[in-house]
Amino acid sequence: MTFNPHAARHDRVLIVDFGSQVTQLIARRLREAGVYCEIHPFNRVTGDFLAEFAPRAVILSGGPASVKAFESPRADESVFSSGAPVLGICYGEQTICAQLGGDVERSDHREFGRAEVEVQAESPLFAGVWTKGGRYPVWMSHGDRVNRLPPGFEPIATSKGAPFAAIQDLRRNIYGVQFHPEVAHTPDGARLLENFVRRIAGLKGDWTMAAFREEATKAIRAQVGRGRVICGLSGGVDSSVAAVLIHEAIGAQLTCVFVDTGLMREGEGEDVVRLFRDSYNIPLIHVRAEELFLGKLKGVDDPEQKRKIIGATFIDIFEREAKKIDGAEFLAQGTLYPDVIESVSFDGGPSVTIKSHHNVGGLPERMNLKLVEPLRELFKDEVRALGRELGLPDHFVGRHPFPGPGLAIRIPGEVTKEKADLLRRADAVYLDEIRKAGLYDAIWQAFAVLLPVRTVGVMGDERTYDYVLALRAVTSTDGMTADSYPFDHAFLSRCATRIINEVKGVNRVVYDVTSKPPGTIEWE
Ligand code: XMP
Repeated sequence: MTFNPHAARHDRVLIVDFGSQVTQLIARRLREAGVYCEIHPFNRVTGDFLAEFAPRAVILSGGPASVKAFESPRADESVFSSGAPVLGICYGEQTICAQLGGDVERSDHREFGRAEVEVQAESPLFAGVWTKGGRYPVWMSHGDRVNRLPPGFEPIATSKGAPFAAIQDLRRNIYGVQFHPEVAHTPDGARLLENFVRRIAGLKGDWTMAAFREEATKAIRAQVGRGRVICGLSGGVDSSVAAVLIHEAIGAQLTCVFVDTGLMREGEGEDVVRLFRDSYNIPLIHVRAEELFLGKLKGVDDPEQKRKIIGATFIDIFEREAKKIDGAEFLAQGTLYPDVIESVSFDGGPSVTIKSHHNVGGLPERMNLKLVEPLRELFKDEVRALGRELGLPDHFVGRHPFPGPGLAIRIPGEVTKEKADLLRRADAVYLDEIRKAGLYDAIWQAFAVLLPVRTVGVMGDERTYDYVLALRAVTSTDGMTADSYPFDHAFLSRCATRIINEVKGVNRVVYDVTSKPPGTIEWE
């Protein structure tokens, strides 16, 4: 079992994953309520696992299967006998009913999207949030529905498509909801989940970033001893927070290596060096490698090829620099919880690689380094909170995510220095306008893309024949799905005017309104 060393000190909730697309959101809602939780695939949650993990409450997630199908997933029986309160969500509710003596049927009325529930009975799940007789908006996504409750259960809410939209067995402390309280489209959902863990399970909510900071620094000291640690800074939030935390724990035993690929955003390299070397006094090796990267990318236009070249070049440089640090035993990485959650696969097949993401993969084995990954149990928003806790400036911590291969994957076709410089400038103007409009924090990621297309324009009395720039801005909670940000027209016109006036080489600006799926966030 792989649960984290800090967990033992905290009240913890187990989330049993049946493969829903939104299982991670359950965990995020609980963490926001100050409660530590972990997600584990249903087929790993055996009686032994449960005894060792000793959760104070269990949540069964939704999932794509039908409980009516042959050999569909089930919760281990010990979940119901452990004495910990249980909440089933969607498929989780259905499997509770199927396993405890009720029944589920296929419904002709598939409920998908917004729906309304009517509360029929008082429940600790609803306390202080929903009242009997009230009607409330929720988000549903189900085909099957419960049609007979197991003994001991009562309905506490109904909806048009689900007579048992919420159920409870107060004696055994088992609850079920057909809707998804974890998504934002169920406006009161987070408060219902908080009721479950705080009121029903009686958890105090002792998971704070201040406590994490203290425990994590102790754990790092214990792991590293007197060893030396190297950490690759990318300019992003995760590696920066990891470095500051490790530095707090072991001081000068940490050396950071910052490889400037020449494919970063405007001012990014200087920012990193100033912050780490000057403000935090962290030993930092700054490698300027623009020429090397651009040289290797010459003539390459395939996106995956670009990623591979950048990844391999990065590793070569990093290895060369790391070898100069005497006795380095450990490599620090800003791995986050979403990267380590095991995903549930029902057909056992591998998931399709849409894009290969680049990190320092392969390096630990090549150099015989042990990994230090102090952020392994945190979500992105927790990393940001920890960053603030550690005193990193807000503008740094709140930065939009930036891909490892950088601007190279925002220049479809061959990457040249001229194009990278032009894109960097245009991107900076666009982000400046977003900041001025007060929209930066409402957007998950915003950037410009330099298209390999020239169009005719007219500036003054002159004909121009210049590049087209595409602007992209999306909202998202995790980068897995995304919606295009609905800027107003005046804002977009303002950006276009400024970019065309200030960035020589661009004479046309377009806005990308594609969501993900079917698009991806980046263009390559
Ligand atoms: P996509 O384009 O796949 O992006 O919708 C989802 C998120 O991942 C980032 N991204 C990358 N990050 N290396 C990275 O480190 C990559 O090769 C890479 N490609 C995409 C992207 O910026 C977005 O946040």
